[in-house]
Amino acid sequence: MNKSVNDLFSHNRLWAAQMERERPGFFTGLVKQQTPKYMWIGCSDSRVPANQITGLEPGEVFVHRNVANVVVHSDLNALSAIQFAVERLKVEHIMVVGHYGCSGVQAAFEGARIGLADNWLRHIQDVRDRHRDLLERLPEAQRANALCDLNVIEQVVNVCVSTVMVDAWARGQQVSIHGWAFGVHDGLLQDLQMTVASTDSIEPLYRAAIQSVVAARS
Ligand code: CO
Repeated sequence: MNKSVNDLFSHNRLWAAQMERERPGFFTGLVKQQTPKYMWIGCSDSRVPANQITGLEPGEVFVHRNVANVVVHSDLNALSAIQFAVERLKVEHIMVVGHYGCSGVQAAFEGARIGLADNWLRHIQDVRDRHRDLLERLPEAQRANALCDLNVIEQVVNVCVSTVMVDAWARGQQVSIHGWAFGVHDGLLQDLQMTVASTDSIEPLYRAAIQSVVAARS
């Protein structure tokens, strides 16, 4: 585990050589264009690497990561990435992927003060507060993970109501937005049953997904 920066370069040279040996022309093919079908919006956490978890290769997934996979309506970084993915790359699926044991969600859950990021995590506290009654009815041991799930569901809605997605669906572009959660403890992705493919279906799917979280964690 204790790798030096030089080791990273050595590994990189080996990897590039191996890829080229096994699949001649792989990199020159990538130069021409990227045509990913997927956009991944996930947590920056080092334990949740989008490509490795899903078996997707360079060129196959467009990735945006930030602390606790939050999509904020005024975040030009996230919105620009979503716009590029949808309008330019024409991705067919956007997955918002949370993970259990997320320290950002945990800090928001506990209301811990950690510094500048408190302002970012405030968005997750808003989620916590919106679902306070629901969370309080769950067994205590389930609440932090339930907030991970609820955060994903809320962020899926935020992607869905973004100008980018409202416009994309209005012109008939086919894009599905998914809500997933990753188990750092077992390496498995869970589908949170929040897959939205039109503006009209946001509301019923949202309510059903929240109910599934309650059912799964009660
Ligand atoms: Co995290």
